[in-house]
Amino acid sequence: MHDQSSTPSVGAAPELFTWEFATDPYPAYAWLRENAPVHRTRLPSGVEAWLVTRYADARQALADQRLSKNPAHHAEPAHARGKTGIPGERKAELMTHLLNIDPPDHTRLRRLVSKAFTPRRVAEFTPRVQALTDHLIDAFAGRGEADLIHEFAFPLPIYAICEMLGVPREDQDDFRDWAGMMIRHGGGPRGGVARSVKQMRTYLGELIHRKRDDLGDDLISDLIRASDHGDHLTEGEATAMAFILLFAGFETTVNLIGNGVHSLFMNPVQRERLQASLAAGESGLLATGVEELLRYDGPVELATWRFATEPLTIGGERIGTGDPVLVVLAAADRDPERFADPDTLDLSRTDNQHLGYGHGIHYCLGAPLARLEGQTALATLLTRLPDLELAVPAQDLRWRGGLIMRGLRTLPVRFTAQN
Ligand code: HEM
Repeated sequence: MHDQSSTPSVGAAPELFTWEFATDPYPAYAWLRENAPVHRTRLPSGVEAWLVTRYADARQALADQRLSKNPAHHAEPAHARGKTGIPGERKAELMTHLLNIDPPDHTRLRRLVSKAFTPRRVAEFTPRVQALTDHLIDAFAGRGEADLIHEFAFPLPIYAICEMLGVPREDQDDFRDWAGMMIRHGGGPRGGVARSVKQMRTYLGELIHRKRDDLGDDLISDLIRASDHGDHLTEGEATAMAFILLFAGFETTVNLIGNGVHSLFMNPVQRERLQASLAAGESGLLATGVEELLRYDGPVELATWRFATEPLTIGGERIGTGDPVLVVLAAADRDPERFADPDTLDLSRTDNQHLGYGHGIHYCLGAPLARLEGQTALATLLTRLPDLELAVPAQDLRWRGGLIMRGLRTLPVRFTAQN
């Protein structure tokens, strides 16, 4: 086991997926980048996969069409994959979504959803995100303390995407509960998660069915309207699309806010700069700052699964047909070959083509919404609660040990109570 305060010694491959690793994976990633940049490892689920940790290799792999997103390309026989957690193993229609499919199906579905999920729709949503943010802060501002994950970072993206999709207000708390179950037990008891997924799917299916006869000004209605050369989304496709928008858009944004606030606490000089610039009414440092927080400690540690459809070489390693490849975005974004002083948080960094939103045809569809939520959340917190501080010693914070996402379980804070 490596000492997390120093770079592990050459020769000993660091132990991955331990508690220490979940707390601070960056020393292990530095070791891998240097010594085994394309590294075959056994995951906690027992599945063997390649980890790609250098920026140049990562970027190339993300855009390589020989790496399929379709789990059917996984080499291990289906019966051995029952418990891997690889999305799409259950053949549910729900799993036939953007992150699990390749061109030409991906091209068609992405084109259709892009017609509904437009930058204009996101821009028009700005006042609603601000109102939701203020409403959530109002609920704890008088108390002088809060758990920023449960009371703020978690509900904000759920309510935001529910509103955007057109889920009626009175049903949004159900989504909050289902999503909470999915986050809390992501790698744990499948029963509760499976039930939550099923409830969400049933609800979304019925909502889409209802909206067909009563189209409104919301994303689900636009998904139903969207057509391409006469091609429409089927109801099943629209349900899977609404589900992936929720699923891809909530835990990521929770962790953008949680990891972001945490990074600012750990880097007080940068935080003061940001607060001063917000007080002066500037938005430039906020915009570059949120990108830098994504690079420095982003929510998506590893891009989602890819499988080699033919033998190929990445970083000099031969990858066999059917081998799973995991691109480690968090490692690539700290690569000194690409970023100056990669382990330093510099909110004004401009040469910052990070991979936090992925790259290539699966580049995050929700990036404009994530940016809007991240910027609004951080700016409003720091402006309304300027003396916000961590309420527990930093070493007592607990990180979730999931495979794809990186985030805190709780983030207890205190501040001067507001009346
Ligand atoms: C894809 C990151 C927020 C919807 C991705 C990918 C990454 C990513 C890395 C590519 C995965 C891969 O190639 O394997 C993030 C981060 C977010 C965020 C860091 C927040 C800070 C959102 C939001 C939404 C969203 C708010 C929607 C409301 C999607 C969708 C895809 C995707 C639909 C699949 C696109 C495709 O396969 O064509 N995201 N995401 N994301 N994201 Fe995000």
